[in-house]
Parts: sequence; structure tokens; C-alpha cells
Amino acid sequence: MSATPPESAMEARPTETFLREGTGDVHAARRARLMDRIGPTSAALIVAYPERNRSNDTNYTYRPSSDLWYLTGFEEPEAAMLLLPGHDEHPFVLFLRPRDHKLEIWDGPRVGLDRARERLGADCALAFEDLAKELPRLLAGRTSLHYALGLDGAMDTLVVGAYRKAIRTARGRARAPTAILDPVDALHEMRLIKSPEEIEAMRRAGSVSAAGHVRGMRVTRPGLMEFELQAEIEHVFKQQGARAPGYSSIVGGGSNACVLHYIDNRAALAAGDLVLVDAGAEVGYYTGDITRTWPVSGEFNGFQRTIYDLVLRAQMEAISLVRPGLPWHELHECTVQVITQGLVDLGLLDGPVEKAIEEAAFKKYFMHGTGHWLGIDVHDVGIYARDGEKSRPLEEGMCFTIEPGIYFHPEEEGVPKDFVGIGVRIEDDILVTADGCEVLTRGVPKEPEEIMELIGKDA
Ligand code: GLY
Ligand code: MN
Ligand code: MN
Repeated sequence: MSATPPESAMEARPTETFLREGTGDVHAARRARLMDRIGPTSAALIVAYPERNRSNDTNYTYRPSSDLWYLTGFEEPEAAMLLLPGHDEHPFVLFLRPRDHKLEIWDGPRVGLDRARERLGADCALAFEDLAKELPRLLAGRTSLHYALGLDGAMDTLVVGAYRKAIRTARGRARAPTAILDPVDALHEMRLIKSPEEIEAMRRAGSVSAAGHVRGMRVTRPGLMEFELQAEIEHVFKQQGARAPGYSSIVGGGSNACVLHYIDNRAALAAGDLVLVDAGAEVGYYTGDITRTWPVSGEFNGFQRTIYDLVLRAQMEAISLVRPGLPWHELHECTVQVITQGLVDLGLLDGPVEKAIEEAAFKKYFMHGTGHWLGIDVHDVGIYARDGEKSRPLEEGMCFTIEPGIYFHPEEEGVPKDFVGIGVRIEDDILVTADGCEVLTRGVPKEPEEIMELIGKDA
């Protein structure tokens, strides 16, 4: 293993400063837009996820809730924002933790109530522990509440209780809310279309993620443990400004690649096998999501190469279709067509191709979708089809993945022995542009010859 860091790591070290907490115009503009969208008689309550226990009295590292962060830049737990469009005094109410000198010595600084206006643009700051008490009063006169039910049971109980109370106390005096609405229409449609500064963040996440994969290819050798390869990749992520991976990295050598959500990462890489790596860096809370599959010893055997080339062709053909107006589902139809045709040609599926597609026979080896929205969440928010549509058309500013794969799980019956245990997925992050697309993760190769050039260079 080389003692020198990869070239990419020599760049000036970026810090995670993009769109952090503040009264930033960006967050204020997002709040204003959301208030416009929900209308003057509604309210929106966006809450922070609770901290989660990891072991005895220690917690997982806290990561802010995506919706709350998107609208405020605020990163603390025990927080909630209430938007009251058109309110004369406080359209933006923030519930947060009060300052506490002793606790701040242990856990770090808090913004606190007194600084919430200056630092976060709140019109009114209240203690988070008073949320249940204050909410019914604040909801009086509102006709509906936008709130994401089902993510945090304790919070749901609190919110539904406050909602009922608002209805009871409004009787005869004020209008009461009559609906709790999911944020999917108002807020998540906003998040689905990336603004110019978000596109910059997505580019950054894509390039840092790509640099991690390049490093991974360079250090790969037989005998390396999957977790060692993971560590090398995630090391580059952090060196280049990521706070964490955007999801648990998948590093699967040999047939581990056929376990779609394999995160155990505890086996040794064997000569002659492929390794599948699905890992993405989260930089400034926007994540990349890349999969590459490469040969541990630097050379594909003929069967591996055949499957690799088929997946690559499917992925490239789908990418070539991307442009505004293309219905989302056509990307999946494209990868299914190419992969099914290829598998029939190889004798791995019975033809004809149309029948294998109609009967979904391809799902035996290609059992997942072709992609998903990407952004602050790896499986980002936003609906895939609106009323009456088979799927929605792509729009400029959308980001998503294209990630076909073929997997011959060792327990799958009827797989010719030369293919058993081969698992290949190729995944890139795509931005829809005015006339096509930009591949945000082009910094890591996927052409076999280019990959083979890199394998083991720093092993
Ligand atoms: N890494 C998660 C996914 O590709 O969906
Ligand atoms: Mn993905
Ligand atoms: Mn992935």
C-alpha cells in the first residue's frame, strides 16, 4: 500500500461549510416558497428525528433530519419548526433546546432560544420541551397541518394529541384543522428539483464519491479484507470533506455481491473473484451513490466479462435516453430490455425476450429497480408517478441514479456453474440538464480496460 495519499486527496481540504446553519437567504427563500405552496390557512410542522441509542448510554452520531435541515440549516436534535404562513408576528416558530452550560461542556454548543432569531432567522423561539403545550394554541385558526406521520411514534402521539386539542378548543371560536397532510406534495416536490447551489453540492458529492472508488480500485489485491477496502474508500471520503458515507457501504467480494444489501464486509477478497462496491460520500448533507464492480486480481474472466459488458451496455443505453420529458419508467424498461435480451442470448433465460419480460422472468437475476431520486437522502424524497401517469416525466434539475445489475446467487437454481456467484452492478448519479444529462460520478471509470489499469496500482 502506498504511503502517499492519492492525488485527489492533495487538493485543498474542503470543509463541510456548504449551507450550514444560519439565517442564510437560501433557507429563508425555501421557507417562503413552502409557505406559498401550503397556502395562508395551513401550517407545517417539521421535526428533528430523535437521537438513537447505540450501546448502553452512548448514541449514534446525530445526523439532522433532511427536511428540517433543508429549511433551516439547523443541525441539533430535539428541534421542530412550525411554519404559519401569513402570521403577522411569527410565521416561523422554532422549538429548540435552551442553552445549558453544564451540558454544553459535555456535548458541545447549542444555539439556544436567545440566538435563534439571529442565527436561524426564527421569528419566535420556544423550548422544545414545550412543544405539546404550545402546539394546540399555535394551530388554532389553521385549516390543515402538513406533518410527516409514521416516522417517529412518540412524536406522532404528541402531534395528533395537539391536533385533537386544537380541534376541541377551537369550537365556536376559531377555525380548526381538519387534515394532517404528508409533506410529499408541498415540500418534497421542492426537494426533488435541485437549485443551482444544490447542483453544486451534488457535483461535489459525486466527485468525492468517485475519488473514493478510484482509491478502492488502486488498493485492491487478493487477500485484502472487505472492511479494509471499505476503510480505504471512506478514508478518501473524509479526507475530501465528507462527514460520513451517505449510507452503509456495501463491499462484497465473490458471491457476497449477490446479497443486495450486504454490509457485513468481513470476508477476504479472493483471487479470481469480482468485488462489488456500493458506496457514496455525504458532503454537506448531499450524498453520492456509486456502484462499481471490479476484478480482485485485475483481470475479468470470460464469464465475468460477459456479464459485466451486458450490465454496462444496459446502463449506458439508459443514460443515453435521459432528457427532460422522458417518462421515468422508460429508463427501467430500457435496462430490462437490454439485460433480458442479453440473458436470453446467453441461454440463461428462456426466450422469447418479450415473454421473459412480460412474465418478469428477468427478475430472477435483475430483481431491483433501475434507480431512485438522489439528494439529501440517498433514496431521496419525491413521488415517481402522479395521478393518472404511469410515471412522471423527467425535469431539468432532477437527480437520480441509474444502477442496473445482474446477480447469480449461489442458491438460485438452474444457474450454469461458470456464472454461479457472479454479481455485477454499475451505478452512476445523473443530473437532468436542459438538453440531456450530466453524469455527476464520471470521475470513476467503468470501462473494463480503464478499470483494469487501476486495479492494484497502490496495493
Ligand atoms: N446504495 C443504495 C442504493 O443504491 O440504492
Ligand atoms: Mn442507488
Ligand atoms: Mn448504491
